[in-house]
Amino acid sequence: MMNRRSVLKRAIYWIICLFGSLVAGASFSLYPFGLPRKTTRYLPVLPLEEAPRKGVKTVLIPFTVGDKRYERRAFLVATDGSLMALSSQCTHLGCLVNWDANRKEFLCPCHGGRYDVLGRPISGPPPAPLAVLPLKVEGDMIHVGVRI
Ligand code: FES
Repeated sequence: MMNRRSVLKRAIYWIICLFGSLVAGASFSLYPFGLPRKTTRYLPVLPLEEAPRKGVKTVLIPFTVGDKRYERRAFLVATDGSLMALSSQCTHLGCLVNWDANRKEFLCPCHGGRYDVLGRPISGPPPAPLAVLPLKVEGDMIHVGVRI
């Protein structure tokens, strides 16, 4: 025979089990199983002969996923004979930064974040440098790696 206390314990046990099952089920249903995983795709951005010798050049990177067209903006930065690609996404909250050729800085329009020519934060809220994007030359074209 069960007394009142043990009935209450069992009820609490089953309520906790039910709640745990609901949370697990909800988490499982929110997991994006059907979405394709992101991979790095190298996309052509500029003929090699048009690469900046010194300074920064803004490039637009068009691409498609399925039948949708997208476009990313990045920067090719040439310094001391080397070339690198920087993301245009601010590391604070993700706004797109612009290159200011007069100040020789990347400026974020959202909260005044500033980065130097190598993408290192110099003032404002950005907590980290602009992301360096993978870059390679194939044939006579510069390709930049984009996570898609
Ligand atoms: S999003 Fe760039 S400074 Fe806030």
